[in-house]
Amino acid sequence: MNKPLHQFFTNDHHRIDALLNKATEQPGEIDLNYYHHFRTQLLRHIKMEENTLFPAAKKVNPEVVQALIPRFRLEHGALTALMVPPPTSTLIKVIRYILEIHDMAEEEPGGLYDVCEALTHGQTQELLDQLAKTEEVPVHPPNPAPIAMASARRALKRANYDFEEIVRGA
Ligand SMILES: [Fe+2]
Ligand SMILES: [Fe+2]
Repeated sequence: MNKPLHQFFTNDHHRIDALLNKATEQPGEIDLNYYHHFRTQLLRHIKMEENTLFPAAKKVNPEVVQALIPRFRLEHGALTALMVPPPTSTLIKVIRYILEIHDMAEEEPGGLYDVCEALTHGQTQELLDQLAKTEEVPVHPPNPAPIAMASARRALKRANYDFEEIVRGA
């Protein structure tokens, strides 16, 4: 089956992963230019899901979508909070960990994208046009204040992840 929305968002995941890989290509160094692009593109991706995909699917079947999206919303909140502190190898380890689980749950057969794609069948092109027009999210420079890390840890907790546990893990 042709799945243009699934394809669109999955391609975007790969594009965003590639930016993070570029930012961490040199061992022991973080390329801040690539990292900046990673941040802005990940935030734009989340905006496309939250502002275009979810509302369109929700309009068709509010019950089904409402039952599915809280977990994704909380993970978006965690990822957004993780975009605030200055990047370190520890922070990036946690970002990668969450992103991998999150993206998989969206992409897997019968996952969030499949559900949204099926519900919005008939308005696919309209949605793709709207998605292409999504503007970048303006960002502040990374915030080194301890409060930024503290709120990232809290946002992770709300999404059922533990920052320290992820850091300690393999
Ligand atoms: Fe997402
Ligand atoms: Fe996504």
